[in-house]
Amino acid sequence: LNYCVPRTRKEIFETLVKGLRRLEYRGYDSAGIAVDGDKKTTTEDNSKIVLIKKKGKVKALDEELYKKDCMDLEVELDTHFGIAHTRWATHGEPSALNSHPQRSDKNNAFVVIHNGIITNYKELKKYLNSKGYEFESETDTEVIPKLIKYVYDNREREDLSFSTLVERVIQQLEGAFALVFKSHYFPGEAVATRRGSPLLIGVRSKYELSAEHIPIQYNSGLFKEGVQDKNSHNRPDKPDNSTAVNSAGDGKAVEYYFASDASAIIEHTNKVIYLEDDDIAAVVGGKLSLHRLNSLAGENPVRAIQTLQMELQEIMKGNFEAFMQKEIFEQPESVFNTMRGRICFHTNKVILGGLKDHLKEIKRCRRLIVIGCGTSFHAAVATRQILEELTELPVMVELASDFLDRNTPVFRDDVCFYISQSGETADTLMALRYCKDRGALTVGVTNTVGSSISRDTDCGVHINAGPEIGVASTKAYTSQFVALIMFGLMMSEDRISLQPRRLEIINGLRILPDMIKKVLTLDNKIKSIADELYQQKSLLVMGRGFNYATCLEGALKIKEITYMHSEGILAGELKHGPLALIDKHMPVIMIIMKDACYTKCQNALQQVTARSGRPIILCCQDDQEMSKNAYKTIELPHTVDCLQGILSVIPLQLLSFHLAVLRGYDVDCPRNLAKSVTVE
Ligand code: G6P
Repeated sequence: LNYCVPRTRKEIFETLVKGLRRLEYRGYDSAGIAVDGDKKTTTEDNSKIVLIKKKGKVKALDEELYKKDCMDLEVELDTHFGIAHTRWATHGEPSALNSHPQRSDKNNAFVVIHNGIITNYKELKKYLNSKGYEFESETDTEVIPKLIKYVYDNREREDLSFSTLVERVIQQLEGAFALVFKSHYFPGEAVATRRGSPLLIGVRSKYELSAEHIPIQYNSGLFKEGVQDKNSHNRPDKPDNSTAVNSAGDGKAVEYYFASDASAIIEHTNKVIYLEDDDIAAVVGGKLSLHRLNSLAGENPVRAIQTLQMELQEIMKGNFEAFMQKEIFEQPESVFNTMRGRICFHTNKVILGGLKDHLKEIKRCRRLIVIGCGTSFHAAVATRQILEELTELPVMVELASDFLDRNTPVFRDDVCFYISQSGETADTLMALRYCKDRGALTVGVTNTVGSSISRDTDCGVHINAGPEIGVASTKAYTSQFVALIMFGLMMSEDRISLQPRRLEIINGLRILPDMIKKVLTLDNKIKSIADELYQQKSLLVMGRGFNYATCLEGALKIKEITYMHSEGILAGELKHGPLALIDKHMPVIMIIMKDACYTKCQNALQQVTARSGRPIILCCQDDQEMSKNAYKTIELPHTVDCLQGILSVIPLQLLSFHLAVLRGYDVDCPRNLAKSVTVE
């Protein structure tokens, strides 16, 4: 939304499309845009909105924009509000019609973009149908523009503002949403709101930004300046009673950017305001105002204007073929950043700033429940054993969806961890709310400062791995792994009997970045293995103990981006089924490290070779025994047993990457998958 300097329509298109491009990594199947038309596109009404939507990539939408010869691309606009969206289908197949913006009617009186899911859309649709509103898409979203039009059409003599209309609409909605509305009845005005899905506002000003210079109008809300601290688990300031500062400026010195993710706007501004559930933000006449749904008199919410530390180059691909490849190779640094400032290698102290005030309470708890989805769940599996050992507490690891399906009993003296790269995964968030309602202490472990999980938990740890763009998670996994181990170390600081073990692990962490660098030098060897395997249909990954999680995570990487069938198998279960799959044709990767499970893994190896299996073995350097029995070996540096999984997962990340490239697939955007799954 532009108030700063006049922009041409072409520049407006470019800004919107670029924003979508930055979010491409999340995965999507269609895209759309809405801008104001001009004299050529409209008959009577100069502000009639033009909608352009396309199935497929943002590139296809971008090309379509310039085919519209009915729009003057060079015309300069003082004020303009455009919206754009990429969709990942939940209700209705991927198609231009089902993509967003969705509209109220053929005149595009109201257009809306939506992230999330409206669970009561069937009832609303039925009602609106009965009032004569006709639907054109199969989406849940379409009820929203229809509903706002209905409220507008039935406003009688009331003079309702755009944000009041939106407020009335969201009172009727159930489910999760981040919404941005545009309307030709309210030219140049924007309204945005959220409940359960993330939404932020970027503010760019000609002036040095300070509260005085931003033309923000405060009705019930107050914006306050704050700097986001990368290393702490900080959350927006809680409401306080400070005096409201009134707006200055003439409202013509600012550009506003509404987005679901900071990466879409970071190249324009690093000043952002994160909206909270049921905040309604409106820009009218260049001034941003905020109010809360059903706000009570005297309620005075504070929304900090935060300064993001994220650099654009951090989210760029550099010289790598794909973001995923870049992120795999970044792991020596990302893992280091997770530890930075938190481990003192002289005193062997580990301090996680976001947890220290809650440590006593955590130590007194009944059990730890560690919850996540996908790769984040695997980080919980990977560290369960060492957490049990270091905390001497029962540790449950849970897939968020299953945890909720079971209505798992949770008690006030439980401590629940939520592991999530994005901090926005709907299932994990719902599990968080479920446990909060039952009074448990909640701890977030996320990679996204300001995300819903980092804000809604009582305390937590930011893993500081830097933005992860490839849909298949890599560096976030190893950083989550390290963060959870650091938590175990912090919990065991005063246990005398555990000191030798702690010391061993801390020494292992100290040299971990160098060890990772060594593993990354195996890239060429792994590529040659990929050359042999890429035409296979299946690939099994087998191991046990500290390396079982590597099997699950390796198999997940392979299926996500190569579309090969792949299974992570607990070697202890081999005889109970998976052995039937083994023959001389089935590719098997076995992880056999020198730890407490070494002998048991050797037995599994015997069973595989006895059935003519030809295992590729991930083993410790110079393990002669393994090279004798393997079809091939990938030799890794040896580290402490509980850290070995960080090293053993990297060859499988690399293998999946090379397999996907050889099979000709888009590594960063695998079909049917999204980076951040904000629907149940
Ligand atoms: C999606 C992604 C996975 C990720 C999972 C959990 O399925 O494709 O890569 O592991 O969500 O995401 P989170 O952001 O909660 O870690």
